[in-house]
Amino acid sequence: MPVFTPPPLPSDDKRWKIVNGTMRKNGFARHALIETLHTVQSSFGYLDDTAIRFVAQSLKVPLSQAYGVVTFYHYFSLKPPGKHTMTICTGTACYIKGTDKLVADAEKHLNVSAGNTTKDGQISLMTARCVGACGRAPVVLTDGQMVGQMSSEHMIEQLERWAVE
Ligand code: FES
Repeated sequence: MPVFTPPPLPSDDKRWKIVNGTMRKNGFARHALIETLHTVQSSFGYLDDTAIRFVAQSLKVPLSQAYGVVTFYHYFSLKPPGKHTMTICTGTACYIKGTDKLVADAEKHLNVSAGNTTKDGQISLMTARCVGACGRAPVVLTDGQMVGQMSSEHMIEQLERWAVE
């Protein structure tokens, strides 16, 4: 029997590693479909065709089944999020280093709760479970780029730049 090789990551955006991590943790088994789609949703803020195909291929489930799940649950969104995405890691190591404050400060600054996009469509605020860089906690992903030892001040500076970019 040929050995199954999972497809390559769609791009070098670090968020694909998080998605892949969820599948790997589940041995690329089909039952990981919903959990993996959740990881895509929470990391990217929505699921596009590339993401759905990548997950379906990696878990060897029919594309129609993956689309079926995404369209069935209201939790999933096919709509693109804001122009920029701030993803804050809320895994244990980052939590200990205070990411709950980062989340609270970002929510206050943007006037949206985590998982949502500002009204003008500029910025989506997302959270993710451990992004695999615990030694650099607290970690955020700014448009998919990992930044460690993040402070509220720096995060808000970034959000201010994005508000007009
Ligand atoms: S808990 Fe944040 S990188 Fe591991």
